[in-house]
Amino acid sequence: MKWWQKTAAFELYPKSFLDTTGSGTGDLKGIIRKLDYLASLGIGIVWITPVFRSPMVDNGYDVADYYSIDPSYGTMEDMDELFAEAKKRNIRIVLDLVYNHTSEQNAWFIESRRDRTNPKADWYIWRDAKEDGSAPTNWRGIFGGSAWTWCEERKQYYLHTFAEQQPDLNWANPEVRQELYRIANFWIDKGAGGFRVDAISYVRKPDVFKDGEPDGEDGMVSVHDMTANTPGILEYLYEFRQNVSEGKDIFTVSEANGVKANELKYWVGEHGAFDMLFEFSHVNLEFKGVETWCKPDPWKLADLKKALRDSQEATKDNGWYPIFFENHDKPRSISHYFPEDADKNAAAKVIGTVLYTLRGTPFLYQGQELGYDNFKWDSIDCYNDISSYGQYEFALQEGLSEEEAMACVHRFSRDNSRTPMQWDDSPNAGFTSGTPWLPVHEGYRTENAEAEEKDPSSVLNWYRALASLRAEETVLTDGSFTELFEDDPYLYAFRRKNGDAELITIVNFSGNTVKYGLAEESDCDVLLSSFPHETGVMKPYESCVIKKR
Ligand code: NOJ
Repeated sequence: MKWWQKTAAFELYPKSFLDTTGSGTGDLKGIIRKLDYLASLGIGIVWITPVFRSPMVDNGYDVADYYSIDPSYGTMEDMDELFAEAKKRNIRIVLDLVYNHTSEQNAWFIESRRDRTNPKADWYIWRDAKEDGSAPTNWRGIFGGSAWTWCEERKQYYLHTFAEQQPDLNWANPEVRQELYRIANFWIDKGAGGFRVDAISYVRKPDVFKDGEPDGEDGMVSVHDMTANTPGILEYLYEFRQNVSEGKDIFTVSEANGVKANELKYWVGEHGAFDMLFEFSHVNLEFKGVETWCKPDPWKLADLKKALRDSQEATKDNGWYPIFFENHDKPRSISHYFPEDADKNAAAKVIGTVLYTLRGTPFLYQGQELGYDNFKWDSIDCYNDISSYGQYEFALQEGLSEEEAMACVHRFSRDNSRTPMQWDDSPNAGFTSGTPWLPVHEGYRTENAEAEEKDPSSVLNWYRALASLRAEETVLTDGSFTELFEDDPYLYAFRRKNGDAELITIVNFSGNTVKYGLAEESDCDVLLSSFPHETGVMKPYESCVIKKR
């Protein structure tokens, strides 16, 4: 087994982690200060979302210069110190490579947009207008509005899968690809332990650009449906592997929306392009295809169980999944998977227990270990997230009232997971001595690291217990997965087994007391349970892990 299969990862959103200067935004020194906290959670990988120089239209996912640190986060010396301090604690820092697009303020784009003959003219995706002057195709960007923006200087449109300030790079140009590999190697030489590769399934564009069947009242179709996972993409990805990761002691995980289970073997595993891949079916249960917040489908536990079963099945013989239920683009898992009146402490433990005992590497997202939930701000103007604005506008266009559109934002906004870390109960939760860039969640008075540290039944201490369990019970890493009680509408349960070693996880996603029959339970010891466990009975929102004697 590889080191990255045995450890656990922590996704860190630096802007909201810890501010050491009073600027109101987190910084690299703040991460260094909390490395011991991360080590106490048994974390071996810290994935930091982008910290490169950026105008922050999309909080760093719009990179202006890949070779420098954004001044709001600190300096290159801080980054060097972070690599060194993390190494002392056996933690690898994994950087986020945003390679589908750059910022419009990147020097490459500034040059590219100047005219059609400059040295960078072909570094982005430029196309002429249709005869009537309109955009080359009817594709809608993922953050809403057309995926094309007119550039007066070149008298052409450029493509942007995301915001207009995020022009897509032209991967068909080998010079672009070589430069991207050079950047990755620059960071490996500096000490990066690996990479999370952003939005990689969009880098190969179709040979012919054409209009798609409209999927909304705006007459447009999501760019995702027209460009994600286009045939030929693997050639680029294998080239990436050869030039970036092959033969090096680093770890790679790609964000690859749109890759199907039967294609997985080409993407990950011994001959794949990456070590792991983020797949979203279990966190996108309410969306059949594109994530359109105003058109969610109802979902049931059976859907979540199926999505998890499919991914466990897909990696059974080849490849390895990162297990996750939260990230910086998703609502908090307590609010996502449980009703508002659920016992939050117990619900957080249900998610944690599944996260740490499924087959794969657990990826914990900051604040999840403290049991944060969503919040509701009254007006769209209170939000910072660029996609919340796009989704809100789209909902209004589709005929929803303002109140209905806000309800979608409350449910799905990416800001739900971006509020500052809650370190203690002092003003602004100890995150900053200044004004936080995003308000602190009001739950901070009780849900904060300092208070949870002292409370044996806290979510934080549950996560620590899970980390120890996973370190002690190797079957959680190397054991097979078999689901139990598949048809039960309330319980999720599975067995992990390797030779004589056998562990069973049972969690109750419902507020009901649920009885079950498991003959072998009489031959088991309870290793962990969130309530005193009674054989054959699961209390509301209970979690437990039992071990065969
Ligand atoms: C996926 C990232 O996770 C998200 O935060 C970002 O907005 C888009 N890619 C664009 O880079």
